[in-house]
Amino acid sequence: MNLERTAKRGRTVLWAMVGFMACESILFRYAMPTDLAMQLTALMTGDYAQQAVRFGQEIPLTEAAHRVFGALMLALGMLQFDAGLRRRRPSVHRAIGTAFITLAMILSVTALIIGLQQPFAGGPETLLTVMLVGSFLLMLLTAVAQVRRRRFAAHREWMIRAYGFSLQVVVQRFLFPPMVLLGMPGPDAFMTSTILAALIALAAAEWWLRVTRMPVPAAVPSAAPV
Ligand code: HEM
Repeated sequence: MNLERTAKRGRTVLWAMVGFMACESILFRYAMPTDLAMQLTALMTGDYAQQAVRFGQEIPLTEAAHRVFGALMLALGMLQFDAGLRRRRPSVHRAIGTAFITLAMILSVTALIIGLQQPFAGGPETLLTVMLVGSFLLMLLTAVAQVRRRRFAAHREWMIRAYGFSLQVVVQRFLFPPMVLLGMPGPDAFMTSTILAALIALAAAEWWLRVTRMPVPAAVPSAAPV
């Protein structure tokens, strides 16, 4: 496999995913007339549209913070893959990294508020949200701990896992509507699509880590006496 070409194509796909999520989160919700947005939501995801209306009425600020900071976090994360920027301006890489972690914290807190207060799929969704947020934070904390110890290879791996994991939101948007259209009840489709999306996103991140991991050089037999 030509790794450089795959990486270039991969970056284009990732930017498209981030752009899609920014449109869905911000433009679709705040720039489109609300009635039209709700009609389209109902068309694609059935009774989930009522959930979208509830968000707007009951927790508009939490919803807005989740949407806007989530989209911003995804865009900032993409900049960290720019090897030129990392090499030429390490201070910019560090500043973006700090902003990314701050936004990830806000995203996690707002996800927990939504998942605890307004879960579309009830108790199982609350549990799932706690597990997803917990895993996401654990990956980020591990990445930060590694970079503090100057273990850059391990830091890269954990950041790729965390970022890949956060992209499960995009994968979920492509799984949820077809499941509803195939007749699955909304809450079941929501849970199934979210779990599948998290597994697919994690598998994709692990695959990329595996193909880009440097082979460990074979041990050189030592001439020194044991
Ligand atoms: C670890 C990452 C994330 C978790 C655990 C998470 C969790 C959640 C939860 C629990 C909900 C409410 C679902 C319901 O209606 O019951 C939600 C909704 C939402 N999230 Fe996230 N989220 C994450 C990342 C993101 C990111 C990165 C974005 C990017 C913008 C985002 C955008 C949205 C939007 C737009 C909604 C509104 C509902 C919808 O359109 O489906 N989320 N999220």
